[in-house]
Amino acid sequence: ASGTRVEQLVAAMTLREKLAQLTMLSPLPPGAPRQPDLEAELRAGLGSILNVVGRERIDALQRIARRESRLGVPCLFSLDVVHGHRTIFPVPLGEMCAFDPGLWEATAAAAAREARRDGIALTFAPMLDVCRDPRWGRIAEGPGEDPWLASLFARAKVRGFQGADPASPGGPDRLGATAKHFVAYGAVTGGRDYNTVDISERALRSVYLPPFRAAVEEGVAAIMPAFIDLSGEPMTGSRALLTGLLRETWNFDGVLVSDYNAVAELVAHGVASDIPEAAALALNAGVDIDMVANAYVDGLEEAIGRGLVTTATVDDAVRRVLRLKERLGLFDDEAVPVVDTASPPRALALEAATRSIVMTRNAKGALPLAMEGGPIAVIGPLASSREDMLGPWSALGDMRDAVDLVSALRATFPTRRVDYAPGSRLESSDEPALDAALELAGAAETVVLCLGEVRDMSGEGASRATPVVPAAQVDLAMQVLALGRPTVLVLCSGRPLVATELYARVDAMLVTWFLGSEAGTAIARVLAGEASPSGRLPVSWPAAVGQIPIHYAELPVGRPASATDRFTSRYIDAPVRPLFAFGHGLAYTSFAIDEVTPARPAIGPQDGVVVTVRVRNTGPNAGRTAVLLFVHDPVARVARPVLELRGVAAAELAPGASATLSFALTPADLLPLGAEPGARPEPGRIEILAGFSADPAELKTASVTVVPG
Ligand code: IFM
Repeated sequence: ASGTRVEQLVAAMTLREKLAQLTMLSPLPPGAPRQPDLEAELRAGLGSILNVVGRERIDALQRIARRESRLGVPCLFSLDVVHGHRTIFPVPLGEMCAFDPGLWEATAAAAAREARRDGIALTFAPMLDVCRDPRWGRIAEGPGEDPWLASLFARAKVRGFQGADPASPGGPDRLGATAKHFVAYGAVTGGRDYNTVDISERALRSVYLPPFRAAVEEGVAAIMPAFIDLSGEPMTGSRALLTGLLRETWNFDGVLVSDYNAVAELVAHGVASDIPEAAALALNAGVDIDMVANAYVDGLEEAIGRGLVTTATVDDAVRRVLRLKERLGLFDDEAVPVVDTASPPRALALEAATRSIVMTRNAKGALPLAMEGGPIAVIGPLASSREDMLGPWSALGDMRDAVDLVSALRATFPTRRVDYAPGSRLESSDEPALDAALELAGAAETVVLCLGEVRDMSGEGASRATPVVPAAQVDLAMQVLALGRPTVLVLCSGRPLVATELYARVDAMLVTWFLGSEAGTAIARVLAGEASPSGRLPVSWPAAVGQIPIHYAELPVGRPASATDRFTSRYIDAPVRPLFAFGHGLAYTSFAIDEVTPARPAIGPQDGVVVTVRVRNTGPNAGRTAVLLFVHDPVARVARPVLELRGVAAAELAPGASATLSFALTPADLLPLGAEPGARPEPGRIEILAGFSADPAELKTASVTVVPG
């Protein structure tokens, strides 16, 4: 019946109505030219809308689409619900630190529930851009540097947004998900947003495509091509990748929705001479929905007249859009219940925020702080901010619902005095403020320095040539440290920030990203020892800006870095290794790997192998840890990275307790990601390494031998 409805609608539509169906409009900022009249557009058959919020307004507009347009096709309302809708969870890079797909799925499901009940049916998330360059502001929105972990994240997020049956993400609690930005947006040259990308075919296949493949396998409803070009071919016009790879090779059957104005920008990219050409290029490539550019409405009739595109191609795109609306239940559910604002998922927000915190340093047991004692001086311009805690893309998150650090510390340490002074502005010094801060810090038993970025310093259009802690804050911190008080650094940011000297001088350091609605409470709980930190870094943290781009899965080189030999692959003015390795993260206890045991010493090329890892809590407190399993193929036809992540498992352990974790490696796990179907591991030894980070010193190694089959 559904196929019938789609065909009947396509048959009944005029060309103008079809083009309207392929168009997504948004209210524009005040003063923008061509502010669209959304109500009139809906009467004329507009297909989708972005950035209109509020259930009442959406319902009113939806009524116009259903009742006042000629064919009554419902409108698709969409929004960037990236890390929460009203209740805000940590930014994705932060949430990655939990290394836990169950958590990632739960927060997506909670966001979907709030957003769907607010009238939204499609989110532009998850963002799956693997990124090894913290200059790029959008690293905050994505899964970090590792493609295997990013693929796990992709699956979890699609399931969370779309539900247990991702094929039908309709109903009151689900959203259609959009995997974005296809593909390799995280590799923009120089970390500069919207810049060109030029990477090898092999990197494309093994690093940037795998998370998208995972999302497609999970049934993702939509995919958004990236703003960028790949070696001169803009993604919005790439028939080879959008239709060839996604639809024909991977059997992706959802909708391709352009990025904001990206269809018109094909002219600026230098691959189309005018809007009709740009529109034809995008539609022929496979882009079904034109976001905001109006290029399909303005250009496709003319393009058809010029013979650049056919009406059959238009019809196919319309079919896909209508099928998506069916899949989302838009033809059926005029009565989705409204959001239950009385019981927001705050407990989940607190859990997610707590588990996203990474303790990178804890010298002399500076943390946790004692519950009783002298004054705590909280210093730093971010400590009282609620807005910044929400991070970029915080949808309908209201800063009045967010918890700042100072208030949370006062609530968590009711019998200790908690004094606060900002000490400086975010990016500029302020002498009277500095004096007041130094006075407080000098009189304190413990200083908590809260430094970093405001939320607008991360996210879209927020590339930084020098991703460091702003100089004014470093100055402030150094003056505070000169007082000699025990000092804990709480770093808020959307990316790793370089400040190596500062980090070496503080007694303890928590990396807290932008943690969302419960940010302050989560940080205070960890500072107080109510929760042991358990986050691990999903990115290698540079020791110097010049190391960027940086990641752990490097290829071996002919002359590995040696401190004593100049003619090796190193710097003469900086170390080669990151300051904190991928996976680094401390707890209020310690863990050790006792054994790594493959079930069999030798396997055939068609076989998998189960590896067991015994992990023990060697410290004084209970704690949770993720164990990471890497593989390395030391001799292969094409060189393989020194480490490749292939497994993650968690253990929650009492002091002295141990657990045996089991990892089932498939033959594909022994190959590069994205290997051709049917490819088999090459004969020879494969190393299997287990540990808590990609620091080679922390890994315990075993091996299996692949014997010719
Ligand atoms: O979804 C986003 C995208 O990530 C960046 N440009 C705007 C889109 C819609 O808001």
